[in-house]
Amino acid sequence: MIIALSGFMGSGKSSVGRELAARLGWKHIDLDSYIEQKMGRTVSGIFGDGGEERFRAIELEALRDVVVMNEVAGGDAVLSLGGGTATLKTARELLQNHTKCVYLQTDLDTIFKRIGTRSRTRPLFNDKYRIEALLDERRPLYESSEYRIRTDGRTPSEIAGEIIATVL
Ligand code: S3P
Repeated sequence: MIIALSGFMGSGKSSVGRELAARLGWKHIDLDSYIEQKMGRTVSGIFGDGGEERFRAIELEALRDVVVMNEVAGGDAVLSLGGGTATLKTARELLQNHTKCVYLQTDLDTIFKRIGTRSRTRPLFNDKYRIEALLDERRPLYESSEYRIRTDGRTPSEIAGEIIATVL
C-alpha cells in the first residue's frame, strides 16, 4: 500500500511523511528528492532549464515510476508528493487508483510561518500575492484526495497519529 501525502508547499508533506514512515516501519519516498536523484538536477535547476511544463512532465513520470516500483515490490510506502503534483489530472487519477491519498489542509498563515514569504529552493514560492491565488486555485484539486487532515497548530507526530487512525 502507498499512503500519499498531498497539499500546498509548507503543509508538512515531507516532515509528516518521514514521521509516518518511521512509525509504521515503511519506506519513505519524497517525490522531489526522487526526481532530483533520477535527473541529477535540483528542482530549481529543472524549472530553470525547461520551465514548469518540463518539470510537470518529469514529475508525472516519477509518480508512475514510484507506483509501478511499489506494485512490483509489493511493499508498503509513504509517498510525500510535491505541492503541484495534484494539478496534473493523470496524477490525480493515479493517486485515486493506486494510493490512499491524504490532503494535509493548511491555512496560508501557517504556510508563511513555516516557509517565510520567499523560498530559494521553491521556484513557485516567491510572490506573496501569487501564492495566495495559487492556493485558492489548487484547493479543489487537493480536496479530490480521499482523506483530509488539518495541520495548523499541530506537530508532525500528532498529524502522523491521526493519519494512522484515519487511513489504516
Ligand atoms: C511545487 C512544490 C514543490 C516542488 C516544486 C513545485 C508546487 O514541492 O515540487 O517546487 O508547484 O507547489 P514542495 O511542496 O515539497 O515544496
